[in-house]
Amino acid sequence: MCGIVGYIGNREAYNVLITGLKRLEYRGYDSAGISILNSQSSIYKCKGKVSDLERFVSGNNVSGTIGMGHTRWATHGEPNDVNAHPHKSFHGKFILIHNGIIENYARLKEKLMALGIPFKSETDTEVLVNLIEYVYEKGNSTAEIAVRMALSEVIGAYGLVIACTDEPDKLIAARKGSPLVIGVGSKEYFIASDATPIVEYTKSVIYLNDNDVAIISREGLILKNLQNDNQIPRIHQLDLDIGEIDKGGYKHFMLKEIFEQPRSILDTFRGRVGTELNAVYLGGLYNVTERLVEARRIIIIGCGTSWHAGLVGEYLFEDLARISVEVEYASEFRYRNPIITPDDVVIAISQSGETADTLAAVRLAKEAGALVLGICNVVGSSIPRETDAGVYTHAGPEIGVASTKAFTAQVTVLAMMALLIGRKKNVLSEEQYLSYIKSLTEVPGRIEQILVHDDEFKRIASLYKLANNFLYLGRGYLFPVALEGALKLKEISYIHAEGYPAAEMKHGPIALIDHKMPVVVLATKDSSYEKIVSNIQEVKARNGIVIAVVTEGESVITKMADHVLEIPVIDPIFAPLLAVIPLQLIAYHIATMRGCNVDQPRNLAKSVTVE
Ligand code: G6P
Repeated sequence: MCGIVGYIGNREAYNVLITGLKRLEYRGYDSAGISILNSQSSIYKCKGKVSDLERFVSGNNVSGTIGMGHTRWATHGEPNDVNAHPHKSFHGKFILIHNGIIENYARLKEKLMALGIPFKSETDTEVLVNLIEYVYEKGNSTAEIAVRMALSEVIGAYGLVIACTDEPDKLIAARKGSPLVIGVGSKEYFIASDATPIVEYTKSVIYLNDNDVAIISREGLILKNLQNDNQIPRIHQLDLDIGEIDKGGYKHFMLKEIFEQPRSILDTFRGRVGTELNAVYLGGLYNVTERLVEARRIIIIGCGTSWHAGLVGEYLFEDLARISVEVEYASEFRYRNPIITPDDVVIAISQSGETADTLAAVRLAKEAGALVLGICNVVGSSIPRETDAGVYTHAGPEIGVASTKAFTAQVTVLAMMALLIGRKKNVLSEEQYLSYIKSLTEVPGRIEQILVHDDEFKRIASLYKLANNFLYLGRGYLFPVALEGALKLKEISYIHAEGYPAAEMKHGPIALIDHKMPVVVLATKDSSYEKIVSNIQEVKARNGIVIAVVTEGESVITKMADHVLEIPVIDPIFAPLLAVIPLQLIAYHIATMRGCNVDQPRNLAKSVTVE
């Protein structure tokens, strides 16, 4: 993982790079570095965040109009000043920043060391920069040729920005496996891991493909592949606004993103479903609808929160479309020997569209001949570009590392897909179909009603902020929400939390319950309501603390539980979209009360582009 930014043009590069790195910190933030390619071409890098780098640089001459910057998430070598990027080659001719992993780095390093080439860091990146200089010094005439030749020896993933001091008015960018976007301005170019550092300067971008190498000067850009064939750069227009990527008055991105959900869900179904449309339209699936309707089985793959959304999808597709569904961790699926046939439909869910395991699983499923669809948030990212078709969630940029609005957007897309297929297969009558559509369109308004109770969620959070463990229980559609609630709490507050199907509690977790154990029970009115009431009794009988999420107006659980969090009435199949909101907010408040950095939790990264 890691965020990279490069600039060449006529502005002061330092400002462009620092602002860009701050936007990319969600990709990694254990160390950061910068190099402005002026007469000194010094490298400034240090352990810590981009703000630490700013302090470190202050007072030095960083004036210049070409440069590169990096924010790191360590893979090879601990986070420290030496391992931070940029890295310089052994004779100092090449400077390079890298996102990805060089898998054959040990072999390459051994070869270079045997030739007497010294190394300063423990990184795979330094191997790459030294290899490029070694190839260059062997007599390969230009930096570009040396880069292409060196990269041909490399196995692994990279997004790179490279400068050569012999060719000072040029940057080279290359991609394989790790995302890279180039912003095209007037006599200036911006290079970044995603479009957020670019959008305030230009909306015209080129998404690099695997094996692309871009040679960039102020006068223009030449795009080639590793084999030296010219490629045609295709310019896309960004549909992203600068206002969408700042905190908009909220203390944290995560809080902003939680509160954005009424709007982001509306954006997800805008123009695709509505009472006036009386139908579901998913343009991205238009050409594959028949194959979807005929699917023998759907396999949903994802990681983290996206996997939880997939679990909700399993209930939706089974209930509404009567299709058998399997939900798989992408990382497990890709390394098993899964049985995939051309009758299967594989749906990859990923906010970033870049998660390495999910992308690899997509490739595996495509090779096996399945129809592969994507549900992704980041437009132009790798998964949507490699899948046969798909649906963007349109939730807007999600910056907080803990996923919130992406989850509700993913569930919304899965619901729309299940409704579409269910109706086409005649599993749903026209009347049921229209009634579900109406319910779905009510979700944003219902979430608004939940958000106004934030002070109450905060109060409950303050009571349990010192707990060491939490248990989350749910049944049916709300079991994945229990998993998601537990994940939110543990990833941002570092409190150990487990999500469980409520009935499974008796097979283990019940042994943990005592008067100190908060148990969050998802207990809205649905077909398993009576059963969950019994589960609450079981917890209370062991003196556990019950925080119950219930349907507005509920009276039985209200008497039994220590606290109730009410959510408005909604069709049970859409309850996950509502029930997750209080859990997101409780996790958020507990984490802030414990002094944790909720937008950048320790050890985590937003986009996991390594296995
Ligand atoms: C990381 C993030 C999670 C996210 C997961 C999958 O672990 O911290 O928030 O759910 O990756 O990411 P994706 O972009 O594929 O949804």
